[in-house]
Amino acid sequence: MSADIGADVILGIETSCDETAAAVVTGGVHVWSNVVSSQVEIHAKYGGVVPEVASRAHVETIIPVVDEALDRAGLEGRDIEAVAATHGPGLVGALLVGVSTAKAMALVWDVPFVAVNHLEAHLYAAFLEEPDLEMPLVVLLVSGGHTMLILMEDHLRYRVLGSTVDDAAGEAFDKVARLLDLGYPGGPEIDRLSVEGDPAAIAFPRAMVNDGWNFSFSGVKTAVVNHVRKFPETPAADVAASFQEAVADVLVTKARRAAREHGASGMCLSGGVAANSRLREKMAAACRDDGLRAFLPSQAMCTDNAAMVAAVGWWRLRADGPSSLAAGADPSLRLPGH
Ligand code: KG4
Ligand code: ZN
Repeated sequence: MSADIGADVILGIETSCDETAAAVVTGGVHVWSNVVSSQVEIHAKYGGVVPEVASRAHVETIIPVVDEALDRAGLEGRDIEAVAATHGPGLVGALLVGVSTAKAMALVWDVPFVAVNHLEAHLYAAFLEEPDLEMPLVVLLVSGGHTMLILMEDHLRYRVLGSTVDDAAGEAFDKVARLLDLGYPGGPEIDRLSVEGDPAAIAFPRAMVNDGWNFSFSGVKTAVVNHVRKFPETPAADVAASFQEAVADVLVTKARRAAREHGASGMCLSGGVAANSRLREKMAAACRDDGLRAFLPSQAMCTDNAAMVAAVGWWRLRADGPSSLAAGADPSLRLPGH
């Protein structure tokens, strides 16, 4: 191998769901390029991600996206010292495109391949914008597929305190948006509409808010369905704002309690739902009140990207060495320590 375990220039590849992404990151934190090609318009007409359509789109886009990431970084293939790709969790066909591409490139360039956990990558997104975030840190990982409350004790050391027992937070946003005829993806639409609504108009349930560390969002979704059926004249903006308030309230209340109980120095948001304006406001206010550091990543770092994959590649390469080229896609991969 031309590069040793100290490889510094990492090409990251992300294809776990509906974003085809590639990035070049050095030293685990310096982002030289971060290219994301979203399939959101392709899937919008189906009202959700269609796995087979996603795989095909990844196959068509991955090479141009990698080329662009190298171009924007001002590098060529031979400058890359390791290739990291998300190998799970996610859609199996979609994951395979990124994993196969990364392995082929690692073989051709004679550099290590690193198989990366997508959830771990979301945790590292924060460090790309704030490299000296202090730990222990409470991270709320909220996306279309996951809702997890995590205590990050040190680099590569986590404790999953709780997760959703039914719908993920983003899934609940998407389902409620569909019910209100707001289009796909629903989270940003609800966020936009809520600005015109009254968050106190309807007291939607806050399931399990003071009970343990897990979350449940299917009840609030059903409560929205029932409310809209019973009171069809309620302005959609009030329904959206009240729903959003209930979800943000539960998420922040639990994260805040976890930070207090575990002596965290700060709280951090991660995943697509972390873009939600009300959730960000409530998180910032809670941290201000409790004397904690709040870290709210930019929109680009909240959603799926390959810079966070390359960052984890850098850490994992040092901790565990290269992954085997026999490592395949693992659609139900869990976070280490879970
Ligand atoms: O992390 P992500 O890009 O993809 C995965 O699920 O892995 O998250 C997408 C989810 C979708 O459910 C989308 O509706 C939600 O994040 N989302 C939002 C907002 N922006 C994206 N939810 C609430 N408010 C937003 N502003
Ligand atoms: Zn994600």
